[in-house]
Amino acid sequence: MSHFLDLKDFTKPQLRKMLSEAASRKKARAKFAKGEPDKDQPLKGKAIALIFERPSTRTRFSFEMGIRQLGGEVFTVSGAEMQLGRGETVADTARVVSRYVDGVMIRSKAHETLMEFAGAATIPVINGLTNETHPCQVMADVLTLEENKGDVSKLKTAWIGDGNNVCGSWIEAVGVLGGALRIATPQILRPHPEFLQWAEQMKADVQVMTSAVEAVAGADCVVADTWLSMHDPEEEKTRRHNLLRPYQVNEALMARAAKGALFMHCLPAHRNEEVTDGVFDSAQSVVFDEAENRVHTQKAILLHCFGK
Ligand code: CP
Repeated sequence: MSHFLDLKDFTKPQLRKMLSEAASRKKARAKFAKGEPDKDQPLKGKAIALIFERPSTRTRFSFEMGIRQLGGEVFTVSGAEMQLGRGETVADTARVVSRYVDGVMIRSKAHETLMEFAGAATIPVINGLTNETHPCQVMADVLTLEENKGDVSKLKTAWIGDGNNVCGSWIEAVGVLGGALRIATPQILRPHPEFLQWAEQMKADVQVMTSAVEAVAGADCVVADTWLSMHDPEEEKTRRHNLLRPYQVNEALMARAAKGALFMHCLPAHRNEEVTDGVFDSAQSVVFDEAENRVHTQKAILLHCFGK
C-alpha cells in the first residue's frame, strides 16, 4: 500500500514512471469517448472515496472520470456532511473509512489533517490539495510542460505571484525531477522556509526573488495562480491584491520569457487579475491541457498507489 501525499516523498524514477504511464494512457485514449472504460480495468472491484473539505471543479471531475475509466467505483462526500464536521477525530474517521473503501483522495483544509488521516488509514490516501501542497496539480503541470517542451530537467520554469501550495509542490517537483525554478514573489508571500531548506538540501536549482522580470528571463514556462487562495481569509483580499498587482502576467511580461514560452495556471483563474485575457487566451497558454492532464496523471498516481 502506498500513499501519494507529497512529491518530495518519491524518487525521480518513481515520478518518471508515473509520468510515463500517464502519457501512454493519454495516447491510448485518443479516440475514446470520455465515459468509455480503458481497455484494461486495473481498478475493477476497488471502491475509492473522494472527501472534500474545500470546493473543487477539476479535482472532483478528473478523479471521478479517471477512476471510472480504470474500472473502479467512486463516490464523493464533503467533509461537512461527515461526522468530521461534528468533531469525530480525523484518525478515527480514517480508521472507519478504511473498513469500507479501498482508497481515499482527500482535499483537506490543513496539511496536518491529511497527514493524520494518512497516518491512521490502512488504505492508500491521495493528497487532493492542502494549504501547503497540491502534488496532483503539479504532476499534471509537468506532463503538460513536457508534452510541449521536453524533459523538465532541461527547462526553466518561472512562478509568478504568491508562494502558495502549488508553488510548494513545484519546488518539490524540481527538487526531485531536476530543472530550474525561479519564483518571483513579494517578500511577505515567499514559500515556507521548510520548502526552501529542503530544496537547498536537494541541491535544487530554485531561486526566490522579488522581480517578476528577472524571474521570467529565459523561462520556458511562466506559471501564475490566484492572488487569494481558498485557504486565505477574504479580509486579506485587498492587501494581497495590492501586494501582487506588480506580479500580473501580461503580454509585456511574457515577452521577456524565452521565445514561445508556455503560460500555465492550475485554474480557476481570475482573468485580468493575476493574468490578462491576452495571455490567458493566447496560443502560448496551455491551461486547458493542464486541466485535462489531471485525469491522465491521477490515473497513473492511482495505479502507483494500488501497486498496478
Ligand atoms: N486546480 C484545481 O485543483 O482545481 P479545483 O480547485 O477546481 O479542483
